[in-house]
Amino acid sequence: MISLAIESSCDETSVAILEDGRKVLCNLISTQIATHALYGGVVPEIASRKHLEAVNRILAMAFEETGLTPKNIDLVSVTRGPGLIGALLVGISAAKAMSFVLDVPIVGVNHMEGHICANYLAHPDLEPPFIALVVSGGHTYLCRVDGYTNYEVLGSTRDDAAGESFDKVSRVLGMGYPGGPKVQKLAMEGRPGAVDFPRAMMKKEDGYDFSFSGLKTAVINYCHHQDQKGLPINKADVARGFQDAVIDVLTQKSIHLLEDTGLKTLCLSGGVAANGPLRESLERACQSMGVDFYVPPLDLCTDNAAMIGSAGYYHYINRGPSDPAFTADPNLGL
Ligand code: KG4
Ligand code: ZN
Repeated sequence: MISLAIESSCDETSVAILEDGRKVLCNLISTQIATHALYGGVVPEIASRKHLEAVNRILAMAFEETGLTPKNIDLVSVTRGPGLIGALLVGISAAKAMSFVLDVPIVGVNHMEGHICANYLAHPDLEPPFIALVVSGGHTYLCRVDGYTNYEVLGSTRDDAAGESFDKVSRVLGMGYPGGPKVQKLAMEGRPGAVDFPRAMMKKEDGYDFSFSGLKTAVINYCHHQDQKGLPINKADVARGFQDAVIDVLTQKSIHLLEDTGLKTLCLSGGVAANGPLRESLERACQSMGVDFYVPPLDLCTDNAAMIGSAGYYHYINRGPSDPAFTADPNLGL
């Protein structure tokens, strides 16, 4: 089965063509980062317009690159949420047009389910059940994956998402958007433990939910306090202290859930999964527990259509197509 997938939930317009659920024939990503960086964050109206400008061009490029024609397509998958409504609608309109004209089924995919499926693309041997830690700009989930379309969310954030906290701390440190890679780079020059920030709800009895807004406030308060006292701020030490706190929480919660469920596989994904020290920390923890650890390569961590194609394929195989009347759902939960 050849499927066409479109992703446009935030600031990346992406089109992929896949064979079945795992073989990527092409995965084209047109990023808007340079435009939004001028404003310090994603501007929803600009994002919609940029998707509109890009989507037909990227679609044409995908056919050119694979040598396939629209007639070869058997299934269309598209992100239907969560995300920015105007941005989502561009991808959905393009996908519905393709599905209608080609008379092939369409599947509306949950973006976060797509992030989980990124690991299927990178690791052909991976099969459920496993624990998924999904960390992106808008969401943080710990879930139990019992089947390709069977998820149980066991933990999520009560306030800010992990990626959002990277973006906000980056802004506080004067580095702007997108924050994750910038904070990671600066943290490499920072000294561990030089500035210590709180780790919220880390005890086992605190459960699997996360809270990152207190950590963000602690960083803001620290900088404010140093400023008021006329004391210097070592930004690299602040970045390192912040990043270490996020990594400790994500690692510890994953360990607790692995212990409690007895599952022997952990899959990390989502934009924050691009963070090198986080990948290393989870890899070490899994090694010491005898747990298999999976994480996609960097280009499949951040937003891309290939992961949406994989999720769409498994949905179609297990549950059939979506009702073509579906529309965008900006707050769609996992
Ligand atoms: O999954 P994603 O591409 O988009 C959403 O679905 O939100 O995730 C984007 C998030 C941003 O918050 C970005 O700062 C973060 O992932 N991110 C990182 C790194 N690269 C991207 N966070 C930490 N370290 C990184 N290297
Ligand atoms: Zn994402």
